[in-house]
Amino acid sequence: MSGSSDHDDRITRNAQAITDREMARLLENTPASKALFERAVKSMPGGVASSFQLGDPYPLYLDRGIGSHVWDVDGHDYIDFHNGFGSIAVGHANPIVAEAVAHAARTGMHFAVTVEKTVALAEELCRRFNCDQVRFTNSGTESNMTAIRVARSFTGRDVICKIEGSYHGHVDQLMYSCTPGAESMGGRDTPLATPKSKGMPKELDQWIRIVPFNDADAFERLLQAEGDRIAAMIMEPVMMNVGIILPQPGYLQKIRDLCTKYGVVLIFDEVKCGVTIASGGAAERFGVQPDLASWAKSIGGGAAIGAFGGKAEIMDEINRGAAHQGTYNGNPLSVAASLATLTQVLTPEAYVLFTHLGERLTGGLDKAIAEHGIPAVTVDLGCKGCVTYRSTPLTNYRDFLETNTELYHASYPWMINRGVFMTPGDEEQWTMSVLHSDADIDRYVDAFAEFCAELAA
Ligand SMILES: Cc1ncc(COP(=O)(O)O)c(C=O)c1O
Repeated sequence: MSGSSDHDDRITRNAQAITDREMARLLENTPASKALFERAVKSMPGGVASSFQLGDPYPLYLDRGIGSHVWDVDGHDYIDFHNGFGSIAVGHANPIVAEAVAHAARTGMHFAVTVEKTVALAEELCRRFNCDQVRFTNSGTESNMTAIRVARSFTGRDVICKIEGSYHGHVDQLMYSCTPGAESMGGRDTPLATPKSKGMPKELDQWIRIVPFNDADAFERLLQAEGDRIAAMIMEPVMMNVGIILPQPGYLQKIRDLCTKYGVVLIFDEVKCGVTIASGGAAERFGVQPDLASWAKSIGGGAAIGAFGGKAEIMDEINRGAAHQGTYNGNPLSVAASLATLTQVLTPEAYVLFTHLGERLTGGLDKAIAEHGIPAVTVDLGCKGCVTYRSTPLTNYRDFLETNTELYHASYPWMINRGVFMTPGDEEQWTMSVLHSDADIDRYVDAFAEFCAELAA
């Protein structure tokens, strides 16, 4: 049944009809979100706090979350698979984290002086990620931007290399080729550096180079040409802003070896993979150790915190003059949430649970995909995973441009209307928490199986 173009054409036509019908239903059901949007646009561009929260024609606004559930301002109850763009692996209002935060609130939320718990958190991060030293920030963006500065200081070089289609935060120097359009991205082997935002100084692109993911040869050619100018290679070891793209066997090790050979600092951006896909993130799961790494999102259990760290000889640049400041760095409130998260919630048992949940979810989805011949594949990385609407797995950003976006557009309102809260964008993935149950997973699987049946009807 699958693979024939008649079948695939029918699926795409059905998807368009589903999108129209389900979006109409979603809009009809969410008048309170609409009203809040109309109020919010007056005080915030787009009516949201961050552009990632935009929605078309308006975003859904949430009221509260407990465990695996969230409620929107219209009172609808959803199972949350969005989970704060991957920040809530502990589950909403996790009692252990809530108690740690309440205690910090009662005993002093902020001193701008390092407290004992900040030291304990630094030790825990060093243990998990096999590093010598870390420093704290308030976000993934800050972690990456400071890791870059430290790498430049260590090498005495200025140019940074990044992967096409990856996002490392909204700092100017890294906002290149995050989601370049086909018309501006250049040749496959020599991608152009395409600015993601207006307002970036034009000359900044002289300090950035772009290479495709899963292509160590392209990186080697770049190093042969100008390795002595390149300070750092910053990369997500698993690409997580285009669905999920896994590194092919041996790829990360080749990048590791090339960085060593050319004296380039290898930075793993583990903001999303960090404590989600394994206790020690992608470095543990794929067995490759970077020189520096950055973390944020789920390390905080919902609190705003980031960190970066790695080898002492590189981190020591901070003592030698590479500036790293921040009023709120390592503040007691965020640290309390993070320490409770890492030492009491995301324990070895949590990762056993994540493996179970991931297998149950992708197992159910794969069955529905196969039964109805849907051009889609799943990726399972424990508490994180995704469906990509393409018949074969993605290997790099350009594959992602060939996914069937009609199917994604239909799936979003379909799932929302059936109580499954998803991220607004096919570049994201699901995140489950320690408070998700088998019943929660089955709700997703059942809704998705009905969706597949409707697509193929
Ligand atoms: C891989 C990656 N790095 C960095 C960031 C930026 O993190 P933050 O939004 O905390 O600044 C993100 C955010 O989505 C991300 O996905």
